[in-house]
Amino acid sequence: KVPVAVLISGRGSNMGALIAASLEKNYPAKIVLVISDKPDAKGLEHARDFGIEAVAIPRSDYDSKPDHEAAVSAAIAASGAQIIALAGYMRLLSGEFVQRYSGRMINIHPSLLPAFPGLATHSRALSAGCRVHGCTVHFVTEAMDEGPIIEQEAVRVAHDDTPDTLSQRVLEAEHRIYPKALAMLARGDVRMSRDGRALFKDSIT
Ligand code: GAR
Repeated sequence: KVPVAVLISGRGSNMGALIAASLEKNYPAKIVLVISDKPDAKGLEHARDFGIEAVAIPRSDYDSKPDHEAAVSAAIAASGAQIIALAGYMRLLSGEFVQRYSGRMINIHPSLLPAFPGLATHSRALSAGCRVHGCTVHFVTEAMDEGPIIEQEAVRVAHDDTPDTLSQRVLEAEHRIYPKALAMLARGDVRMSRDGRALFKDSIT
């Protein structure tokens, strides 16, 4: 199984979905490390409940962003992780960090990209009158939420949806597509080309 590090900042429900999938016998990846930039992230305890090493690396412990990212990189290197999965990691990564893991770092985002990059995606989708919303797993590149798309799932918007009710259904879809996308990357069924496109094996739908 390909070793994976998961970066979180909070609840860690997507991390939990990746861990649950990775415990299945034929799943091609295993979670070897969880890192949070927030010491009180609920996801840290959740990971430890599964016996997975989970560490807090708070930004406030470091003088600069490069120093913080160096500490995160060192922890990743020590774990042997080959793939990085961002799961609600709410920190903008430097170009240097992104380059280091180019083609090996993926993110889950709560909208059908390229619509609604950034924050507050559910309320923005509702304000825009979208009848369809959803979620995206993509390779991480320097431009935030613009990396090549690996997997998406659409969620229909109900007339009486609130940001809360909509986000719950989108989250369920996130928990389906993130393990699927990670498995595709770990199996080599998708990769990022030099010119920044997602290349899929022919048979993948
Ligand atoms: C998820 O909805 C994820 O898509 C989103 O944060 C939430 C984290 O929930 N990520 C972003 O908005 C990234 N910009 P979780 O901690 O329960 O997985």
